[in-house]
Amino acid sequence: MIVLGIESSCDETGLAIYDTERGLLGHALHSQVAMHEEYGGVVPELASRDHIRRVIPLLKETLAQSAIELAQVDAIAYTQGPGLAGALLVGASVATSIALALDKPVLGVHHLEGHLLSPLLDKVRPEFPFIALLVSGGHTQLMRVDGVGQYALLGETVDDAAGEAFDKSAKLLGLGYPGGPAISRLAEFGDPSAYKFPRPMLHSKDLNFSFSGLKTAVLTASKAHSTEDAVCEQNKANLARGFVDAIVDVLTAKCLRALQETGLKRLVIAGGVGANAQLRASLNAAAKKKRFTVFYPPLQFCTDNGAMIAFAVAMRLQKNPALAVKDYAFTVRPKWPLAELG
Ligand code: KG4
Ligand code: ZN
Repeated sequence: MIVLGIESSCDETGLAIYDTERGLLGHALHSQVAMHEEYGGVVPELASRDHIRRVIPLLKETLAQSAIELAQVDAIAYTQGPGLAGALLVGASVATSIALALDKPVLGVHHLEGHLLSPLLDKVRPEFPFIALLVSGGHTQLMRVDGVGQYALLGETVDDAAGEAFDKSAKLLGLGYPGGPAISRLAEFGDPSAYKFPRPMLHSKDLNFSFSGLKTAVLTASKAHSTEDAVCEQNKANLARGFVDAIVDVLTAKCLRALQETGLKRLVIAGGVGANAQLRASLNAAAKKKRFTVFYPPLQFCTDNGAMIAFAVAMRLQKNPALAVKDYAFTVRPKWPLAELG
């Protein structure tokens, strides 16, 4: 079965073709980061318009890479939510139009299900069941995954998402948008003993997270010390280091708690923050010490992409072929709790 996937929930237009026999055949992506940068965040209307401009050229590129004709596709997948309404509508309407033209089934998929299953795109795949830490710009959740469509929420953030904390703290340090990768790079030059920021909810007896206090701590500390002159470049790096160490400690500790509570030995990291080098180093060290295995999606599939969307639908259709309906009325779900997925 060959599935075409379209991702357009936020600021990346991603297309991919996944074949259940041969694996990923091709994928193409356009990131709007440069366009949104001057505004310090995603501007929804600009995002939708750019998805419209990019989607067809990216489709052509994906087909060329895959060396197949559009007519050979068996089903079309798109991100139905959560995300920006206008942006989601671009993917949904293009996917449905193609399906209608080809007389093929079309399926909307939950963006986070795509992230959750993305480590299975790798050659070394985790077996079910596993614990998944979903850490993206909008979500921070610990899930127990027993199979495709079998997800149980174990804990989540009570305020900011981890990616949001990265982005907001980076902005405070003048690092631009999205700040996650930049603050992570700067932290490499920081002194780990300069700042000890709070580790929110580290010792709470649950699997929830809270990151807004950490961002405030970075703000207070950055106001207390000028970050303007050259000497203070070092101070900025120290602040970055203090922030990264704190957030990584909390994320690692909660993953360990989830593994301990469930008795599972496999941990999957998904979502944009999963690309973070310090988080990976910390989890790898913990895995060695506590004897569990940690899986990451291929780096290029940590952040938003079409491959995870095509893949999630391919997995769903393999499990339940009755889902392959030719219903061309579509809707998007900008707010769609993952818990509602069956
Ligand atoms: O999964 P994703 O691409 O989009 C959402 O669904 O939100 O995640 C984007 C988030 C942003 O907050 C970005 O700053 C963060 O992932 N991110 C990182 C890194 N790469 C991306 N955060 C820390 N370190 C990174 N290397
Ligand atoms: Zn995402």
